[in-house]
Amino acid sequence: MQTLRDLSTLRSAIDALKSDGRPVALVPTMGALHEGHMALVEEARRHAGHVVVSIFVNPRQFGANEDLDSYPRREAKDAQMLQTAGVDILWAPTPEVMYPKGYATNISVSGVTEGLDGAARPGHFDGVATVVSKLLNQVQPHVALFGEKDYQQLAMIRQMVRDLDMPIEIIGVPTQRAEDGLALSSRNAYLSEDERKAALALPRALGEAARQMEKGATVDSAIAKAITMLAAHGFDPIDYVSLCDAVTLEPMSVLDRPARLLGAAKLGRTRLIDNIAVEPL
Ligand code: PAF
Repeated sequence: MQTLRDLSTLRSAIDALKSDGRPVALVPTMGALHEGHMALVEEARRHAGHVVVSIFVNPRQFGANEDLDSYPRREAKDAQMLQTAGVDILWAPTPEVMYPKGYATNISVSGVTEGLDGAARPGHFDGVATVVSKLLNQVQPHVALFGEKDYQQLAMIRQMVRDLDMPIEIIGVPTQRAEDGLALSSRNAYLSEDERKAALALPRALGEAARQMEKGATVDSAIAKAITMLAAHGFDPIDYVSLCDAVTLEPMSVLDRPARLLGAAKLGRTRLIDNIAVEPL
């Protein structure tokens, strides 16, 4: 595996990979890799002959009071995991390579980014859209893979790639979970032992609410119960528990088409998100 940090070397290495005619997959990450990321890499292998993984902790997608400085960084361990998984290139640009002096362009996707995390984290999705378009332009892969855990991010990237005519297939990969059901996330590393136990209430509350809706409970009553359960386990604040159209992410008050139930809440200083599919009766 080659670890590359500057654009001209990346471009030559990508040209060399592409010369055998096999497709290239990109898995964009911010590092601190876990089994969720490795599932993306495995899935990438099924779609492409070559796999490129990027690690870049993107300052533009963190708010002023968010965890940019404390975000876990362990590139040496990440590189070992990627090498073992047979990744061809680790693309790990520095902030100066990604955003050189004088950098001035912002990518903003409307609609799908307006509610949920878009409302709770102003500027976050512009930061993600900007860095993902740059990563896609830098690597020029045939396919790119993203986890369903960041469901709104995935919906936004699909929209952006469609709108900007990028000739890239976007593949969403189901959320990987710990044995007890907690969605894997680099931010789980922040949780204390007690918080780790309480964190389970998030997938449980969403799962229970989804089952109730599928059995005919009203959307509002199922969501109210989920919020009560989260509060009882110490989540505060609860940014949202919301039922949305599975594609457009428009809010839904009646379960009349394929939907997604999404939740975000803070446990101590750790903000957790999760989501689950909800099928109409
Ligand atoms: O999901 C992530 O880890 C990040 O938002 C991404 C897509 C790598 C962009 O920085």
